[in-house]
Amino acid sequence: MYSRIAGTGRYLPERILTNAELERMVETSDEWIRSRTGIERRHIAADNELTSDLAYQAALAAMEAAGIGPQDLELIVTGTTTPDQIFPNLACLLQQKLGVHGTPAIAVEAACSGFLYGLSVADKFMRSGEAKYALVVGAETLSRITDWTSRDTCVLFGDGAGAVVLEASETPGIVATHLGADGHYGDLLYVPTGPSRRNPVPARDDGFIHMRGNEVFKVAVRTLGGVAEDVLAKAGLGKDEVDWLIPHQANIRIIQATAKRLDLPMERVVLTVQDHGNTSAASVPMALDVAIRDGRIQRGQLLLLEAFGGGLTWGSALVRY
Ligand code: ACO
Repeated sequence: MYSRIAGTGRYLPERILTNAELERMVETSDEWIRSRTGIERRHIAADNELTSDLAYQAALAAMEAAGIGPQDLELIVTGTTTPDQIFPNLACLLQQKLGVHGTPAIAVEAACSGFLYGLSVADKFMRSGEAKYALVVGAETLSRITDWTSRDTCVLFGDGAGAVVLEASETPGIVATHLGADGHYGDLLYVPTGPSRRNPVPARDDGFIHMRGNEVFKVAVRTLGGVAEDVLAKAGLGKDEVDWLIPHQANIRIIQATAKRLDLPMERVVLTVQDHGNTSAASVPMALDVAIRDGRIQRGQLLLLEAFGGGLTWGSALVRY
C-alpha cells in the first residue's frame, strides 16, 4: 500500500505587509529585501487569528479538492513552530475545529521542515495500511515570534497555512521521503523561549526568532542539493526525471542555488516566496497548492519537495502527482 495526494489547499491571512511599509518600520529598503531574498510582501494574521484557524481554512480547501469530508479522515498530522498553545497540540485543536473524533492527532515540531516531516510520518502510517485518508498541514503565525524592531529578521517572515489530503493507493504517489537533522547547528537559528527554561528565565529569552542568517544561508545551500540527491537515490530515479521542484520558500538565492545543482531551469521551479516570505512549515504545501491550482502541475508528473530549517532539520519527498 502507498499514499497519493488527493487534494491540496492553502490559506493566507487577509492583511498584507509590503516592503514599503517595512521601510517605515526599520532601516531597510525594498531594493535590499528584493535583491537579497526575493520577498515583496508577506501576510500577517489578524489579532484574533490563531495558527489553528489558518490550518483549519487550508484543511477545508484541501478536503474540498479531494472530495472528502472531515469524517473521512483517519489521521491528522500538523507541522508548526508557532502552535496556539503548549497543549493540546495543534493537530488536536485542528481536529476539534473539524468536528472529528478519535483519529490520531500528531504534531510535528521541525521548524521549516515541519511539513516534510509530517508528510513522511503520514506516508509511513498509510503504507502500513493504518489510514485510508490522512490530512497533513503546515501552518504558522511567525509574525508572533518575529522581532519587528530587528531588520535582520523581520523582513523575512510571514504567516500562512498549506494542507494536503493523502489517500491510500495501490500505486505510489509519495515515491520516497528522506529526513535529516543536525542538532549541533541549533544555535544558528532558534527561539530561546520554552516552558522548561523558565527557572530562571535566561536573559536572552525574548520569545523571538534569532538567526545567524549568513551561516544558515551557507549550510542551507550546502545541504539542500544533497537532500534532493538523497531522495532521488533512494527512489532510484535521476534528476532529469523531475518535472517540478517545490522548494521551501525562504530565499530566492537559496532556491536558485538548489535548482542549479539539480540542473533544473527556474521555469521548472515553483516560486512563491515573493508573495508571502518565509512561512516555515506552511511554505512547501502552499507552493504545491499554487502550482496545482494554476494548472502547472499535472497528474502523473514527478515532483521534488524539499525544506530546510531550524534544528537544523531538513527533508525531501519525491511525489508522483
Ligand atoms: N535591510 C538592509 N540591510 C540589512 C538588512 C535589511 N533588512 N538586514 C541586514 N542588513 C545588512 C547587514 O547589517 C549587513 O550590513 P554590513 O555589511 O554593513 O554589516 C549587510 O546587510 C549584509 O548582511 P548579510 O547578513 O551578510 O546579508 P546576506 O546577503 O547574508 O542576506 C539574509 C541576509 C537574507 C538573512 C540571508 O543570509 C538569508 O536568507 N539567510 C538564510 C535565512 C534562511 O533561509 N533561513 C531558513 C530557515 S528559516 C526557519 O527555519 C524558521
